[in-house]
Amino acid sequence: MDKTLRSAIPGFYGLTVAERQAIAKEWAGLGEGELESLRDSGLSLAQADLMIENVIGRYSLPLAVATNFKINDRDYLVPMVIEEASVVAACSSAAKLFRQGGGFTASADEPIMIGQIQLLDLADMEAATGSILARKAEILARANEGAGSIVARGGGALDLEIRPLRDTEAGDMLILHLHCDVRDAMGANLINAALERIAPLVERISGGRVNLRILSNLSDRRLARASGTIPREALAMAEAPGTEVIQWICEAAAFAAADPYRAATHNKGIMNGIDALMLATGNDWRAVEAGAHAYASRNGRYRSLTTWSRDSLGNLRGEIELPLAAGIIGGATRIHRGAQTSLKLLGVKSAQELAQVAAAVGLAQNLAAIRALATDGIQKGHMRLHARQLALAAGAAEENVRAVAAQMVDEGNIGLARAQDIVREQRDMS
Ligand code: MEV
Repeated sequence: MDKTLRSAIPGFYGLTVAERQAIAKEWAGLGEGELESLRDSGLSLAQADLMIENVIGRYSLPLAVATNFKINDRDYLVPMVIEEASVVAACSSAAKLFRQGGGFTASADEPIMIGQIQLLDLADMEAATGSILARKAEILARANEGAGSIVARGGGALDLEIRPLRDTEAGDMLILHLHCDVRDAMGANLINAALERIAPLVERISGGRVNLRILSNLSDRRLARASGTIPREALAMAEAPGTEVIQWICEAAAFAAADPYRAATHNKGIMNGIDALMLATGNDWRAVEAGAHAYASRNGRYRSLTTWSRDSLGNLRGEIELPLAAGIIGGATRIHRGAQTSLKLLGVKSAQELAQVAAAVGLAQNLAAIRALATDGIQKGHMRLHARQLALAAGAAEENVRAVAAQMVDEGNIGLARAQDIVREQRDMS
């Protein structure tokens, strides 16, 4: 990426698809083939048939880019795949607000995945724990045997932990956690293969019986964080000064911190952004979802993943922390050309950098939602997009859709019948 390019692109929203593609092309130095992978969904039927079983077709969703992102002093255009209207626009406008405060600061832990082995039928749990830990180096070495290039690239199995679980429905058991640095991969295959390699050795050492060997999606060794400050003037509205808007946003955050019913919706809004980025980059968004929600409940009650407060200068400060098991190699990215192009557009060089961007996107998405909810309400923006969908359904020509929708919004009369009337009037006039 040309470092002088800025992701704050005035008027991006109002451009045609071809004009936006031209910007994306220049931004990331995309070739014609890569551009084509965005146009044609990036996956042939033959590739789809190799990806999963029983394929009968492919299924498209819109791929958009969120603008205005500045994270750790670097500009990003963020690819997002999502079916829900308003999400990308909201994310971009929230990123613009953060930009006015200098952008996001983000960090991510080393990409350490946790794998679990369930060990049963142990005569003496303490003795088994001692025996396993005494031979930790040997177990880790076995985990890394045949682990391929990951060890050469500085990754591989790093540590073991043992957790006793007593009086479960299946009696007492020991849970062995294997910590594995998976570098730039999401790491599911790496960790599952390592677990299967060490399981027979663990059985021999402990005298127990191994049942499950599988990664944990609560990847809390792989957290990502983002934070940022929005100057209070940037939040001012015609009806209210910025300080009051900040108060309303903090009240919304307090609601989500105190109430799981609200926290679920609050976090869903965060995941609107993160999932869209995960989908665009070919990542397992269900894994990220599972990790996020489990992490939100880590203290025994389901809570929000973000915190919002007023800083000492009276500006709004937002923070997010969540597990982010996402990769830039392997998985769907191996086959899906659209995902490969999205990664190139994003320009991240490591899984950790992708996790940082995802955390910033989640924080921006959350701000957009709670700001809208605490001020105009969520329906205003939705109605504009709903009006466009009605205009399309009423048969408006593509170039007239926005005008038909805008007229309905101005009139405060948004419905299919009105859209049909306006389309008819326009036809009669032309
Ligand atoms: C809708 O997809 C997401 C929101 O409900 C999130 C929220 O309520 O914070 C708007």
